[in-house]
Amino acid sequence: MMKIYLDYAAATPVDPEVLRAMQPYFSEKFYNPSALYLDARATAKDVQDARAKIAKQLGVRPSEIIFTAGGTESDNLAIRGVMEQFPNANLVISAIEHEAVLKPAHLYNYKEAPVNSDGVVDLKVLEKLIDSKTVLVSIMYANNEIGTIQPLREIAQIIKSKIESRKLAKSALPLFFHTDACQATNYLHVQANKLGVDMMTVSASKIYGPKQMGGLYLNARVKLSPQILGGGQEHGMRSGTENVAGIVGFATALDIVQNNRLKEVARMRRLQELALDLIRQKIPAATINGSSKHRLPNNIHITIPGQDNERLIMLLDEKGIQCAAGSACSASNEEPSHVLSALGLTDKATQSSLRLTMGRDTDERSIRYAIEELALAVYTTFDSPKIVHSQSELSRAKTVLSEGEVAIATSREEKPFVADRIRSGDGGVSGKSSKEL
Ligand SMILES: Cc1ncc(COP(=O)(O)O)c(C=O)c1O
Repeated sequence: MMKIYLDYAAATPVDPEVLRAMQPYFSEKFYNPSALYLDARATAKDVQDARAKIAKQLGVRPSEIIFTAGGTESDNLAIRGVMEQFPNANLVISAIEHEAVLKPAHLYNYKEAPVNSDGVVDLKVLEKLIDSKTVLVSIMYANNEIGTIQPLREIAQIIKSKIESRKLAKSALPLFFHTDACQATNYLHVQANKLGVDMMTVSASKIYGPKQMGGLYLNARVKLSPQILGGGQEHGMRSGTENVAGIVGFATALDIVQNNRLKEVARMRRLQELALDLIRQKIPAATINGSSKHRLPNNIHITIPGQDNERLIMLLDEKGIQCAAGSACSASNEEPSHVLSALGLTDKATQSSLRLTMGRDTDERSIRYAIEELALAVYTTFDSPKIVHSQSELSRAKTVLSEGEVAIATSREEKPFVADRIRSGDGGVSGKSSKEL
């Protein structure tokens, strides 16, 4: 059976070149980089080189990189590290942040900037939310569920003008801009200096590097309260013996993804278009969530009315296709996705939504196979709707549907609606007896 992995937003396999670069640090180069003998100092130099490589890719100074155990820790360090110092201040986040930002933000006075139905932050509202007591704005670069890309440069401009007015008002309160770039790093340009952010979170596990490894870019003007105290590694910002293998793997992975970025973006865009075309043809009732323009090229997020996403995922898994309902981190959470709710989707629509995220091993053949199997799963699932496109097709549906099945009538222009359940002996189903989804 073909195995098709379409959950690259959740995890990426470690690149063989990354693995090769990491291997010596588990054996002959196992040293603690803080030790004084020659071999340990050579390891410290390797950490220094990796830091310099990462800094170069991010367009910042090596001293501005803090290594952490992944995206979650970097987000926590950025938010708690700033907010702990200003108990009466507030922070502004977007309504669609990852839990690694949401949960620490909820510990303080926070405000949420809404997104439009495309999943892009409303800049006018954001500007109003930043008041004289705001010390931190944290807006993700690209969303992990719907792949929407946020206008970081424009947000940086808003923040800059707020800082200017604060100077005029002689306010001593700082204002910092943090972004979570975990999902953006494969496909977007991540030169933090040009994006205008003060802090940026990156996770190695999303870029074909090791898990539990990440970094925080920390502009020299930002002072943080460290969250992990001990031996004072990472300029005192994050104590603990360095994960040398992880650091070297992270630097290698970042170099590979950023150096091949444009080629991979073009390839992903072609596959994304193909997937969306096939979905429109084969499952016309499906709607696409998130912006079509400001979107990661590897993300496809759809709602298929009347379908149960967990059941679809299980059926696809049986065919060797691995995909997700939403964020892997909240897969066990019974609550509907806060990201889809922020877009205005009902809880029912959220439960009918699927996320397919492509990556290095995805090709045209795997996309064709996955969408074909998805369409089959939609139409053959017990109790699943059959999609019809006209009133006459709808009337004929009773001849092809068995008892208890449901028909969905739709056209490109119309809102889909579910016809009443077909019972044997009925004279057919009609639009009149249908209820709107
Ligand atoms: C946007 C975003 N932020 C943070 C994280 C957490 O990263 P990590 O798993 O490296 O802690 C993830 C992981 O899915 C993510 O997608």
